[in-house]
Formats: sequence, structure tokens, C-alpha cells
Amino acid sequence: MASGFVRNGVFVTGTDTGVGKTIVAACLVRRWNADYWKPAQTGLADEPGDSETITHLTGLPPARIHPPRHAFAASLSVEAAAAAEGARVALDDFDLPHTSEPLVVEGAGGVLAPLCAGALTADLMARLALPIILVARTTLGTINHTLLSLEALRARNLQLLGVVLAGVASAGNRDAIVRHGGVPIMAELPRLEPPAPNTIAAAAAVFPDWKSVRSRSFLKKRTKKPLLV
Ligand SMILES: Nc1ncnc2c1ncn2[C@@H]1O[C@H](COP(=O)(O)OP(=O)(O)O)[C@@H](O)[C@H]1O
Ligand SMILES: [Mg+2]
Repeated sequence: MASGFVRNGVFVTGTDTGVGKTIVAACLVRRWNADYWKPAQTGLADEPGDSETITHLTGLPPARIHPPRHAFAASLSVEAAAAAEGARVALDDFDLPHTSEPLVVEGAGGVLAPLCAGALTADLMARLALPIILVARTTLGTINHTLLSLEALRARNLQLLGVVLAGVASAGNRDAIVRHGGVPIMAELPRLEPPAPNTIAAAAAVFPDWKSVRSRSFLKKRTKKPLLV
């Protein structure tokens, strides 16, 4: 249930893989001078991990990028990538790293992406108990994906801080998500051409500052619906 209390960090999830979670996380790291943690990383055979991308985009020192608890080569769900290596993943492997700074946690895939036998990413969100930022595309199809993700969060009483729309702005899609989803848009992140340290630093300004994100009055202003912290 919503407690109104915002812990010292956020969990960034998305309506899909490749929607811009890492780019949003990089902006939040810059905006809040936050630490970063990717609890489970897959796809290392094909791409650098998200921690490496964050290092490149933000210059965050290595000590402030907390290493993934699990990392796998295959570009698959965490559950499937672990199985491909005969590795065992369990929900209780994952504990928040200790830090006195705000912490940006980035999930793998979306809300219902499989983590391991008996657990989806939503279960990891519940375990870590951080308020959630849902990153969504702006393009056709995003209303359905966003509303489905919100239903999944609501069904589990997970706390949402807001939706971030990433891409070329679409006022119609934004309006439909706000009205049908009953959620605030935390920020609209434009296309960055290209995503790079300087464009990330500039784009970070579209996000609210950490103090206002933490404050209950900021959150209360947004809605009384139980999904929202
Ligand atoms: N706002 C943006 N402007 C330009 N490129 C973007 C933007 N958001 C995401 N991308 C690109 O889209 C791809 C997927 O983004 P990424 O943040 O890695 O997604 P996710 O973390 O959700 O899988 C990357 O190549 C990234 O650089
Ligand atoms: Mg990512």
C-alpha cells in the first residue's frame, strides 16, 4: 500500500525492453547526483552492460555504480539467460546496496519480465520496496503497453512515482495515458541526437529535483490513487 514515504531511491522500469530505461537512469543520476545499480544484467555477449553505458554517459565513478548481483551473456530474460548458463537465480539474492546517496535501480525488461522460477521483475520491485518510475515510448502502441503495465503495478499494490515519456512528444498519447491511467507524467524526455554525456547533462533538467521527488507534498499533489506514493 502507498505509505507516502519515499525511500532513498527509485526503481526504473519500462513498458518494454529498449524503451529508454538506461537513458532515463543516466539523466536521473545526473539530476540527483545518484548512485546506480542494475541488479540483473543480461545480453553481455551482444552489448556492453547498462552499468558501462551509465559510466560513459554520466562519468559516475566506479565506486558509485553498484555491480549487478547476476550477469549473463544471452540476450534473454534473466530467467532464460541464467538457465542457458546453468546458473541459479533466486529472489532473495537481491538486496539493496548500502549508500547514503539517492539510488537509481534499473530493472531488466518490463514489469512482468521473468526473473527466476516463481518470480517476475514485479516481485523484485516489491522486495526492494522503492517507488517506481515507468518509462514508456511516445509512439503508437504506447497507450496499451503503458496501461497494461500500470494495471500490473496496481494489482500488486506497487508504488508509482510517475511515468516518463521518452521520444518525440505526442500530446494525444500523453493525454490518453494521464486520463485512462490516472497517473502523472513525471517528465518528457526528447530524442537525444545522440545520447552522449553533454546531451544527457542537458536533458536531465526536464526531471524534478530529488528534494521535491522525496517530499510528500510533491507526491500528494499528484493523485490520491493508491498506486501512487
Ligand atoms: N531519448 C533518446 N534519444 C535517443 N536515443 C535514445 C533515447 N532513449 C533511448 N535511446 C536509444 O534507444 C536504445 C535503447 O535505449 P535504452 O535506454 O538502452 O533502453 P532500455 O534500458 O529500456 O533497454 C539505445 O540505443 C538508446 O541509446
Ligand atoms: Mg537498460
